[in-house]
Amino acid sequence: MAQLHFPPEFLWGSATSSYQIEGAWDENGKGESIWDRFTHTPGKIEDGSTGDVACDHYHRWADDVAMMSRLGLQAYRFSISWPRILPDGRGRVNQAGLDFYSRLVDGLLEANIVPFVTLYHWDLPQALQDEGGWPMRSTGEAFVDYADVVSRALGDRVKNWITHNEPWCIGFLSHQIGEHAPGHQDWQEALRASHHVLLSHGWAVPVIRANSLDAEVGITLNYTYATPASSSPADMAAARWFDGYFNRWFTDPVYGRHYPADMVADFTAAGHLPNGLDFVQSGDMEIIAAPTDFLGVNYYTRAVLRDESPDNGTQTVFTDLEQTEMGWEIYPEGLYRLLCRLYFDYEAPKLYITENGASYSDGPDADGKVRDHRRTEYMRQHFIAAYRAIQAGAPVKGYFVWSLMDNFEWAKGYLQRFGMVWVDFETQQRIPKESMHWVSRVIAENAVSWE
Ligand code: FCB
Repeated sequence: MAQLHFPPEFLWGSATSSYQIEGAWDENGKGESIWDRFTHTPGKIEDGSTGDVACDHYHRWADDVAMMSRLGLQAYRFSISWPRILPDGRGRVNQAGLDFYSRLVDGLLEANIVPFVTLYHWDLPQALQDEGGWPMRSTGEAFVDYADVVSRALGDRVKNWITHNEPWCIGFLSHQIGEHAPGHQDWQEALRASHHVLLSHGWAVPVIRANSLDAEVGITLNYTYATPASSSPADMAAARWFDGYFNRWFTDPVYGRHYPADMVADFTAAGHLPNGLDFVQSGDMEIIAAPTDFLGVNYYTRAVLRDESPDNGTQTVFTDLEQTEMGWEIYPEGLYRLLCRLYFDYEAPKLYITENGASYSDGPDADGKVRDHRRTEYMRQHFIAAYRAIQAGAPVKGYFVWSLMDNFEWAKGYLQRFGMVWVDFETQQRIPKESMHWVSRVIAENAVSWE
């Protein structure tokens, strides 16, 4: 069996986020976040669950680090809960919150696991939401103070920083589609929120660099590879629109290209920008384009687009290809093409796959083993796609599987399991799945088999 060898320094890890695993939602001085408020509001989460306890990682972090170490993981991407550090969003610092992450970082370093810290993975302090949240420029300013506090406290030991996770989800999924907290459906809010997230990223980059010597700083964007359902000009235009809305609206400004002109025109024509780009102040686009060390890439699936205007506009259609339990089509080729595009077209200096993974509910058999072979196959195909991109020249430096363990999957609650480790949410028992053991072997060999 042919073995595909990854570059010697390639970093293999797993990823999580604070709200999805920590629990302890109101312990030791933590303030309320918009996800606490959202999950405590009936009707928002498919199974009516909350992240109040989740994986109880806040109390079990030491065991979780020991488990990662046994499994051979080399890097761990996790996020910081802003309201655990600044319960009111700004101002008063909760030292107990900083201490928690400080111990976690020390534990990781002792276990030889490289920490990658995401500053914002969606749990905005409710106090800032009460002032208007991300549609307000002042929330972006508060983010910079928060980034300053955290990078001062951890910057001597953490050398890899991600400002934001998935601005598209923060902007559009949360403010236009309304599926995520705060659950609004307002295009103008979405566009303003997106801008302030990007702006706060640009502001924070030099602050983090000043506090964390020799650190590498980047942002994580999420990508859905867009293809037209047919070669008709209308379907081609639908795919261009979706790519603009989902991918280019964020990647273009980060790489100094301003907001894409075709999308500004489309949004204007649709009435989404009644006052134009009035939220963009002079100098903002230069700030957003602050040079970064790497781009974090989250990739799960593609979208096939059909134009159904004027009635239904741009629609996603489903193909015959296999889907994961999220209903996401399995399309590893999209990861390959995306990585190549980010390198050749945007000239990203370094790429990390900061999330990729699959939801399958396979649980323990009678012998206690979790035979999640479909997840293994999903990972294998995507590892090969990354390998092919590296062969084509893309500077892919590491791969973080989403997720270390089953956790609270946002609006889906506990109905979707993305973990390489099974979690029994009654007992908090963890069982590494067969896919995890397979990934451990890939890491040990730094290679994946072609078939
Ligand atoms: C991404 C999120 C992550 C997880 C995966 C499945 O959009 O960043 O927290 O929910 O999807």
